[in-house]
Amino acid sequence: MLFVSKFLYAVLFLIFIVKISYALKYQFIPEDDEFFGDCSNQPNNVLNIYGVLDTSEFTVSRQDDIIYMSGNATYKWNIQPGDRIEMSFQLFKFDRIAWVQTLFGMTVRNMCAVLYDEPQYWYKYWTKYITNKEDVKDKCMYPGTKIIHEPFSLNLIFDFTGLPLSGRHKVICTIRAFNANNVERETSICIEVEGHFERLN
Ligand SMILES: *[C@@H]1O[C@H](CO)[C@@H](O)[C@H](O)[C@H]1NC(C)=O
Repeated sequence: MLFVSKFLYAVLFLIFIVKISYALKYQFIPEDDEFFGDCSNQPNNVLNIYGVLDTSEFTVSRQDDIIYMSGNATYKWNIQPGDRIEMSFQLFKFDRIAWVQTLFGMTVRNMCAVLYDEPQYWYKYWTKYITNKEDVKDKCMYPGTKIIHEPFSLNLIFDFTGLPLSGRHKVICTIRAFNANNVERETSICIEVEGHFERLN
């Protein structure tokens, strides 16, 4: 009996710890009013947001800490329909004098397959608001595809485990395209979003 109750306490304690370490919720507050920044020190074949999207019918605005987006955007990145698009995200932290890579990162090998997948972060924050998704979901990010958005705000809430996230951070997103023979296209995309995390709980 003593053993059982000790065991029970141990389990309850573990659940408690796990709950604490899973409970850190943060909001990402972007630094730049335009949201999408350029990656520094890139060669000529690495393009920025304007290399992927024609944003002449798209607006980004900011009120306090919230970024609002609306309008349409047309893909203009010079790749071919059917290309595999690989996307990676990496979080960096500014540590005293330099940007240092953190442990948080992910690579999505075939973004086209999951761009409109409901459980994904990018669906929750972005592709959910594309009103013509039925027409464009098979056209991925191929040139000429026009995505129409209902107005939305970026409310970037993340759950993190581990050490508290304080100070300047940035997410670097790189997008690369590969043909059917798995040969990479000449140009790639790099977008940087700087900001900081505010703890919500
Ligand atoms: C977006 O595209 C739709 C359909 O092509 C059009 O009716 C609408 O006016 C466009 N919106 C903007 C902000 O250009």
